[in-house]
Amino acid sequence: MRLNDRPRRLRRNRLIRELVSEHGFDIKHLIQPYFVTDGSGVREEIKGLSGIYRESVDQLTRTLAEDRALGIDKVMLFGVTERKDTEAATSRDEKNPVVRAVGELKQKFGEDLFVCADVCLCAYTDTGHCGVTVDGEIDNDRSVEALTDMALALSRAGCDCVAPSDMMDGRIGSIRKALETEGLVNTVIMAYTAKYASTYYGPFREAAKSAPGKGDRKGYQMDYRNRTEALRELRLDEEEGADIVMVKPALAYLDVIADFKRRSRLPVAAYNVSGEYAAVKLSAQAGLVDEGAMVFENLTAITRAGASIILTYHLRDILKNEWHYA
Ligand code: PBG
Ligand code: ZN
Repeated sequence: MRLNDRPRRLRRNRLIRELVSEHGFDIKHLIQPYFVTDGSGVREEIKGLSGIYRESVDQLTRTLAEDRALGIDKVMLFGVTERKDTEAATSRDEKNPVVRAVGELKQKFGEDLFVCADVCLCAYTDTGHCGVTVDGEIDNDRSVEALTDMALALSRAGCDCVAPSDMMDGRIGSIRKALETEGLVNTVIMAYTAKYASTYYGPFREAAKSAPGKGDRKGYQMDYRNRTEALRELRLDEEEGADIVMVKPALAYLDVIADFKRRSRLPVAAYNVSGEYAAVKLSAQAGLVDEGAMVFENLTAITRAGASIILTYHLRDILKNEWHYA
């Protein structure tokens, strides 16, 4: 054959492939999630999320010292508590394990650790819903007030970045306004902008003890049949003062990530969620796939779609096992 063009020429060996590779993710753009709980001396592995723990503040500080040595310097904190009520009081008071953790971590690690915290009520409401229930319904505006108070409590404790994951209308604007009013001008808002009602959150809800007792989250999280609607949420979060916009989950929503990348001038983040992590872990544990290779393929796909920031439970394993592009 006399071919004019042979694409395989650029795939011949590792160095050529490296030279022409178009995309790759950067470890420095990854954020590791942690679950913080009440008490002291607590460190329990989460069923369904092997390698991920629920830890009390003292333990978390120790874990972070080790993880910092591995190379982790950007974290996302989630609260887990039994103190739940109708008003989600623990989300904003001094007993909130995340507020306490933020204070400790910033005192210990200062500028050497970038601390993000999830802002949502589901770990603190007795219903397990992300908003406050009034007369049997999730009251949007009442929920936004509570979420704003929670974001303020975190920011006052020194949190570098607050990440509202509740999907109530107007929460980004309300939080931004409150932060500005208090002079907390350096707090980054990473908005869970297009957060879909997803089966992929299964292991997380077990981890955070935040599964809704009754009903589902379809009244506030997005319907996975919708793509254009994500652009409406994007416009709102941009107008309301978000610094970073997020798509969640990641792997089944690469089209939405690509839309955000094209339409927005803000950094785009993607959340490689608990169900995506568990799928990889379980396949690897069953001996069906090479875990490191699958993690690299997944994180590269998310990057290729347009995300420059990825929240992923895999970060610690990548560093520990020194996984790399093969
Ligand atoms: C809280 C929240 C959830 C996740 C992040 N923040 C759960 C949910 O909305 O049900 C999911 C993260 C994951 O699955 O890894 N609203
Ligand atoms: Zn929630």
